[in-house]
Amino acid sequence: MPQNTSIAFTPLTIGPLKLKNRFIKAATNEGMCKGGVISKGLAAFHERVAEGGAAMTTVAYCATSKDGQTFVDQAHLSTETVQDFKALTDAVHKHGAAAQAQITHAGSFTFLPKDFSSMKPISANGGFNKFGVMTGRYMKKKMDRNDMDDIADEFVRAAIHAKEAGFDAVEIHMGHGYLLAQFITPFYNTRKDEYGGNIQNRMKFPAEVLSKVLDAVGKDMAVTVKYSQTDGKDGGNTVTEGIEIAKILQSTGAHMAQLSNGLNVESIDTMFGNPLPTTGVKPKNLIVRLGMMLQPKSKEPDREFTQLYSMEPARQIREAVDMPLCYLGGAQTMDNVNTIMSEGFDALGLGRALIYDPNLINALKSGSIRNSGCTACNHCVTLMYTPGGTACVEEGGHKGHAPELNTIPASA
Ligand SMILES: Cc1cc2nc3c(=O)[nH]c(=O)nc-3n(C[C@H](O)[C@H](O)[C@H](O)COP(=O)(O)O)c2cc1C
Repeated sequence: MPQNTSIAFTPLTIGPLKLKNRFIKAATNEGMCKGGVISKGLAAFHERVAEGGAAMTTVAYCATSKDGQTFVDQAHLSTETVQDFKALTDAVHKHGAAAQAQITHAGSFTFLPKDFSSMKPISANGGFNKFGVMTGRYMKKKMDRNDMDDIADEFVRAAIHAKEAGFDAVEIHMGHGYLLAQFITPFYNTRKDEYGGNIQNRMKFPAEVLSKVLDAVGKDMAVTVKYSQTDGKDGGNTVTEGIEIAKILQSTGAHMAQLSNGLNVESIDTMFGNPLPTTGVKPKNLIVRLGMMLQPKSKEPDREFTQLYSMEPARQIREAVDMPLCYLGGAQTMDNVNTIMSEGFDALGLGRALIYDPNLINALKSGSIRNSGCTACNHCVTLMYTPGGTACVEEGGHKGHAPELNTIPASA
């Protein structure tokens, strides 16, 4: 069978990093970090993606500090975790792929137990914290300039730890409602000072974080950004702001932007192109349960999944900037890949399709298949934080490794 010659299988340079092709495993919170320990299971998950042909795999949801976590069973980047992360990146590199750490701070979107972190989480705004109702964190602290300096330093330290751990790239998470998104979206940020108001002001602090991370590690690693091109919620950002954000990221020097969608709780269907399942599952995890409970309040609660569901805003952003862009949202087939490339995107991110079949890229390249079997049922989302971690429940989907691996440190 002749090999697929699509441009998607040709190398791409982002900043100092050369990728072997254009396929990037998007961050899909794998769990597999019980008590914050980077497990053999997490390493095996990413090794499988690397072995399956993706140019780069993204380790999701690595908090910049313990205080920046959303849940206890979440990874954070520090001297404590570098050794185990190194075992993970070594496993990925064995297959000629790159590894990217997604670095994030939860801000007020945190559900940590009382003795774990501050009872007054930080955010762009102060006042009532709707996410804190279940943990007693009723109020959030409006970040002042000192807080901003501290948090920017935290992102820098996390990026340096990522470099020590052998990561090839860091992805700064500016989307989905976490701390930096709490500045970017007017849905959360109603500040009256220079960090609130128009999108240029709301981007000031996130752009400063990006700039400092670039200064610290940008010569050695790719520094990319993931953000929500639209919030999918009244009172949130639309593509008009999505375009301005891209322009600011470009002028600040980001090596690539991945165009995501939506907010975790308020518009999860904008993120996934369809809602989470509402029947047959009762996830124990708060974030998932909350998302399920509140999803009817989003703009299009009955939205049906369509492939490439976020192409419309992404295309407008593509036209507005020259910087490398990674398309994300509903790519499942070789035809989708070809469309993304012909629309001028430099790379494409894949979440659910690679959970279903981590070998998808090799299979598309060899021509043995043209379609992923993923149906975007979103049951993988409901498995986050279960002992087995994020995996596919569909017939034919990849079931992953033995859950026991998720309890052993990766370097053990
Ligand atoms: C199980 C699961 C967990 C996810 N966790 C994260 C996460 O930790 N960080 C993030 O930025 N996006 C996360 N996402 C969103 C994906 O990166 C992506 O935006 C979304 O799945 C749409 O892409 P797709 O259609 O290729 O799946 C997650 C998605 C899934 C399916």
